[in-house]
Amino acid sequence: MADGEEALAAVILAAGAGSRMRSELPKVLHPVGGEPMIAHVLALARAAGAARIVVVVGHGGDEVARRLTDLPLKDAPVASAADRAPSGAGAGGARCAPKPAEPEIVWQREQRGTGHAVAMAAPLLADFPGDVLVLYGDTPLIRPETVRAMQDTRKAGHAVVVLGFHADEPGGYGRLVRGADGTLERIVEARDASPEERAIPLCNSGVVLAPARLLFDLLSTLDDDNAAGEIYLTDIVAAARARGKSAAVVLCPETETLGVNTRADLARAEAAFQARRRQELLEAGVTLVAPETVFLSRDCEVAADALVEPFVVIGPGVRIGPGAHIRSFSHLEGCTIGPGATIGPHARLRPGAHIAAGARVGNFVEIKNAEIGEKAKVNHLSYVGDASVGEAANIGAGTITCNYDGVMKHRTEIGPRAFIGSNTALVAPVSVGAEAMTGSGSVITEDVPEGALAIARARQVTKPGLARRLMARLRALKVARTRQREG
Ligand code: UD1
Ligand code: MG
Repeated sequence: MADGEEALAAVILAAGAGSRMRSELPKVLHPVGGEPMIAHVLALARAAGAARIVVVVGHGGDEVARRLTDLPLKDAPVASAADRAPSGAGAGGARCAPKPAEPEIVWQREQRGTGHAVAMAAPLLADFPGDVLVLYGDTPLIRPETVRAMQDTRKAGHAVVVLGFHADEPGGYGRLVRGADGTLERIVEARDASPEERAIPLCNSGVVLAPARLLFDLLSTLDDDNAAGEIYLTDIVAAARARGKSAAVVLCPETETLGVNTRADLARAEAAFQARRRQELLEAGVTLVAPETVFLSRDCEVAADALVEPFVVIGPGVRIGPGAHIRSFSHLEGCTIGPGATIGPHARLRPGAHIAAGARVGNFVEIKNAEIGEKAKVNHLSYVGDASVGEAANIGAGTITCNYDGVMKHRTEIGPRAFIGSNTALVAPVSVGAEAMTGSGSVITEDVPEGALAIARARQVTKPGLARRLMARLRALKVARTRQREG
């Protein structure tokens, strides 16, 4: 928190049933950009500097709570990955920042409206010495800049700040009723609105910023005397005004406030999210040959002068260094790619793959939890898992690390400048020393010392002329059988 800035807590509403998704999965766990929607909202709360984050759960609450506990770990860069960060991929600053707030869970057993949902956080936040930002778990596209604009408006002296937008089709949204001076007087829900009020195009996003003490105090005074029979969060505006407090609206584009209620909304949210991330990468100096075919995650970092060919998925936890070249149909998750490395086409990098500068990972290669050293090559048809490959080593086509014995995983260590012959099976745990070689088709079950050549396959036997004699015998046999059948 910078000097003079209000302390901030966030309340994320995620108790609704989400029945229109027609899903067994709680709505806020449906993914956008490869991550649950609520992870985006959590990231927003953290980016806004929230010192406390309270998530209100109800329907599917156990599952939401469980996912939330493992999200922060996945979110934060793991130490080893950060150490190996390709230069220029950025984000070093994240490690200097204060520890991000862990989400605290509160239950709303019965869904009695948005105001009731926020009030569930009162036992945790009623005395919080700062502001509360209310966010929805199913509205994943709001930007930190937008929250900052709301914070600025709070600093300008308004007690309650509401995020609004001009809707193309205002439909069921709450309408923002402003006074002659432009400040907010009240919010009226569509189903409670008069025809004149329904004609107002300015709508409520649901995002609210207010001092904690005032917010919970106002909530405690509200009733459910409305068309829905619910306690409306939106009623705090009129209640604040009645106490002589001012309320204001901050506007944002409608795409930011897109809330997900149906699978069609989810597809729209994905499209809007991807469009935004692609634009950000283009502006940061990344070449996307066909941006509309590249799928990105919220947290992926791609350095300037990386080149991404058409049809690539860059999932969560990916960091790509400058000048790296990601060729078509590659799928990347939880990996780092060093400067000038080449990946694909058709490569799959799974979590824990660390590809050093100038290395090459070619077609139909899968790498998981493995370090590939500088300028090493794994060019064709290989699986490298739970392994380390030294610099400038060459992994031949069809090499497989046999890392799994059906119960446990084991490591394979390959030294610098080693040469692994095509179609080698490396039965882990096993090591191949620096500058050692394996013969093609070997099944390596014992360690190979530095500089040694290991061949582990049956010796070849060659019989001169046997192929021709064998063919002649087979042809004669066929002729004899045909005659027998016909005569
Ligand atoms: C709400 C706003 C409306 C605004 C719209 C924007 C109120 C009364 N209305 O309406 O002005 O235009 O959002 O999308 O606030 N939730 C709970 N517990 C509850 C009820 C809701 O956790 O008891 C959660 C839902 O899971 C959802 C969010 O709060 O994430 C909004 O609830 P929803 O029922 O969608 O509100 P709307 O009727 O859309
Ligand atoms: Mg809604």
